[in-house]
Amino acid sequence: MPSTFKGRDVISISEFTKPDILAVLKKAAQLKKQPQPKLLEGYVLGSCFFEPSTRTRLSFETAMQRLGGRVVGFADPSVTSTKKGETLYDSIRIVSQYTDVIAMRHPLDGAARRATEASDKPIINGGDGANQHPTQTLLDLFTIQETQKKLENLSIAFVGDLKYGRTVHSLAQALTHFNARIYCVAPKNLQMPDYILDELKANKIKFSLHEKMSDILPKVDILYLTRIQEERFPDRMEYEQVKNIYRLTAQDLHGIKKNLRILHPLPRVNELATDVDASPHAYYFEQAHNGLYVREAVLAMVLGKL
Ligand code: CP
Repeated sequence: MPSTFKGRDVISISEFTKPDILAVLKKAAQLKKQPQPKLLEGYVLGSCFFEPSTRTRLSFETAMQRLGGRVVGFADPSVTSTKKGETLYDSIRIVSQYTDVIAMRHPLDGAARRATEASDKPIINGGDGANQHPTQTLLDLFTIQETQKKLENLSIAFVGDLKYGRTVHSLAQALTHFNARIYCVAPKNLQMPDYILDELKANKIKFSLHEKMSDILPKVDILYLTRIQEERFPDRMEYEQVKNIYRLTAQDLHGIKKNLRILHPLPRVNELATDVDASPHAYYFEQAHNGLYVREAVLAMVLGKL
């Protein structure tokens, strides 16, 4: 294990070098092949979810348990002293005294970074507002590598809410290490933020902006769909105008590359029809499954056990 992982916070994928990313993917692949049920015996994960989650929370908690560790935490801040006005700083400072590592999600951008100031234990960001979702990116890359047998020189389309979707922000940043060709497909008001596009430019990553998904479908190796993030819109009318703007159905899957795989961080709403599930190009359920191994790897590495 690179010694730099022990005790490390995982807040933004931009803090991961290419060797860091590859090290996590390698450890995750080892754990997928060979379970290690006692690796984290005696360790406790604090699972602090201030915002709803199915995959991230349950895969972190399952990962810890499958490695022999234990979990304390909450899935709903209304059952904690947050309800009485306790600050994030104070809550995390307390949880860090009971646990060895904390996985957290919070609706505010920057909350995970703020939590690191309160904790002497590693903080793993399970999503902060519209900002970052670094372990999602690691599992996305793991899945891309699993399906394409490589990470370099792939054509990848991001489709949907690229403004508020934290998964696409993190993944676009990570792809700067792998010479990707990126297609950003979104309505004009939900396009990829300029700070991400500037990073792509600075790293000489080719990208283009589109409004129609059909334009790019035949060109890509990975179609990364995202839901319109209803909960982040300040204006309800704006959400109503775009909520059904994209919808992939099985009949759209013609003239596409044989190796195309459809990924989605999930949950899905209307953008991905259930008739796509039976397609050999669909890979989003396997993607969510891979989160288990990637999160096992991240937990074990920050605890210095891999
Ligand atoms: N992909 C993802 O973050 O899903 P959850 O919101 O269910 O954790």
